Amino acid sequence: MARLTTLSFLLMQILAVNAGDHNNHPHNNYPHNFTFPADPGVFGPPLEAVHAYFGQWPEGIAVSSTGRLFSSFGGIDPANVNNGTPGIFAVGELTSPFTEKAYPSVEMNTPPCSGGAVDLTDPENPVGCGSADHLISVIGVVIDAQDRLWIVDTGRPAYIFPNGSEALLPSSYGGPKLVGVDLSTDTVFTTILFSPEVALPNDSLLDDVRFDLRPNITSSGAGVAYITDASLSGQNAIVVVDLGTGDAWRRLQGNPSVLPEPQFLPFVWGQPLYFVPDPGHPPTGNLSTTPPPGYLPVGADGIAISPDGETLFYAPLTSRNLYSVPTALLRRRDDAVEAELAAAVVDYGQTGFSDGMESDSNGLVYKGNQEANAVVAFDPSTGTTQTVVRDPRIGYVDSLSAADLGGRGWLYFTSNQLHLSAFFWSPPGSGGDRRRRPFALFRVPLLDEGGKIDEA
Ligand SMILES: *[C@@H]1O[C@H](CO)[C@@H](O)[C@H](O)[C@H]1NC(C)=O
Ligand SMILES: *[C@@H]1O[C@H](CO)[C@@H](O)[C@H](O)[C@H]1NC(C)=O
Ligand SMILES: *[C@@H]1O[C@H](CO)[C@@H](O)[C@H](O)[C@H]1NC(C)=O
Ligand SMILES: *[C@@H]1O[C@H](CO)[C@@H](O)[C@H](O)[C@H]1NC(C)=O
Ligand SMILES: *[C@@H]1O[C@H](CO)[C@@H](O)[C@H](O)[C@H]1NC(C)=O
Repeated sequence: MARLTTLSFLLMQILAVNAGDHNNHPHNNYPHNFTFPADPGVFGPPLEAVHAYFGQWPEGIAVSSTGRLFSSFGGIDPANVNNGTPGIFAVGELTSPFTEKAYPSVEMNTPPCSGGAVDLTDPENPVGCGSADHLISVIGVVIDAQDRLWIVDTGRPAYIFPNGSEALLPSSYGGPKLVGVDLSTDTVFTTILFSPEVALPNDSLLDDVRFDLRPNITSSGAGVAYITDASLSGQNAIVVVDLGTGDAWRRLQGNPSVLPEPQFLPFVWGQPLYFVPDPGHPPTGNLSTTPPPGYLPVGADGIAISPDGETLFYAPLTSRNLYSVPTALLRRRDDAVEAELAAAVVDYGQTGFSDGMESDSNGLVYKGNQEANAVVAFDPSTGTTQTVVRDPRIGYVDSLSAADLGGRGWLYFTSNQLHLSAFFWSPPGSGGDRRRRPFALFRVPLLDEGGKIDEA
């Protein structure tokens, strides 16, 4: 009995010390000379910091063959939506380790509607500006195997209504588009506009894109783009684009593999993330005593392609699972293909809560694992996921880009604290915009001497 009491007394002391000292150093007043094993917090190569964003909030990253760096400044944040005055841009080039400038031009980033990127013609019903010659609201920026920059315009800017509510506006024709920029001249060489049947004005959120430039996959010979529709209202799909003809069509519409998982609750930097549907009106008070405001509703988001172009990988943002389909089925135009597609979806199971994705010449699929402050790599040939790099400074990996520079392959990725934006609330009472500058662009070497994919 006495022995038991001593043991439980010791245990209580151990617990008290552990709870009171989260760094796990021996407590000054604690007589025992030992520490408990602790999570090291880091793994893999040192993080190389490439850029610190002190201005606009970044989402996408695209790295050219010569090391030029381009970011998107997502129009899901009203502060990134141009209101007519030059200075706010949707896409920028990183001009020094601390500065960015509008790209491809100030003009293209200054939409001409009554409210800049917002068309206020009908003040009761504002919509996204429908200018085909301007960038309205961008998430995805990618550099393809021919070193061309592609910009996916959602056409749906965030807007703050007079009553303080914040929402993504419906798009207008001309807004949703895929824009190709020639990096040697810094000019647009093609603009592919999406019809309201492809980019649903009230629902679509065209997010990220990957390419297959093999000439023999289409009669036009110019290759194909695959775009995730991350719709917040369940209208998720993969949009397929023939880069030669400009034709575009939706595939996998409503398939479970592109949809958000219900009541999904991710944790980042230790905190549960409940979704705030109207960031202009975050919940007030104490979520220990009120129901959660909502759950993350975002579908198909991250996207990556295999080196041979035959397999497309994708994942809903609101999920920890990774999926793939054969690209040949996505390219077919007959709607009967949907049944074959549904049967051909591969579910690889859980690989981590992630946003953007990237693949390399070894066929690895890289993605964030936001819940582990990490970037991980999934190997489709073995079905296993390994950690690439982990660091407490990694706070929400939004986008990844592979590039071959200085004789080796690198993985660049943005870390933008999306989890601390007003879109999320953590009980009991933590909400609103808690992001702190600078936001980061990091890089680490690709695993196993991997490089950028040749044909994508
Ligand atoms: C604590 O233990 C370590 C080895 O486990 C020893 O090196 C160190 O001198 C000890 N410190 C004290 C104050 O006893
Ligand atoms: C604010 O106004 C918008 C547009 O009329 C409306 O959709 C929204 O529900 C309103 N928000 C609140 C909290 O009343
Ligand atoms: C979008 O929503 C508005 C308002 O609810 C509605 O009037 C309009 O018809 C919708 N447009 C489409 C294409 O569904
Ligand atoms: C296209 O050509 C490549 C060789 O460059 C070949 O491996 C592939 O099977 C071809 N694909 C189609 C759809 O014909
Ligand atoms: C929230 O409510 C719980 C239960 O009433 C209470 O214990 C807690 O202190 C409150 N938290 C805040 C931040 O007010």
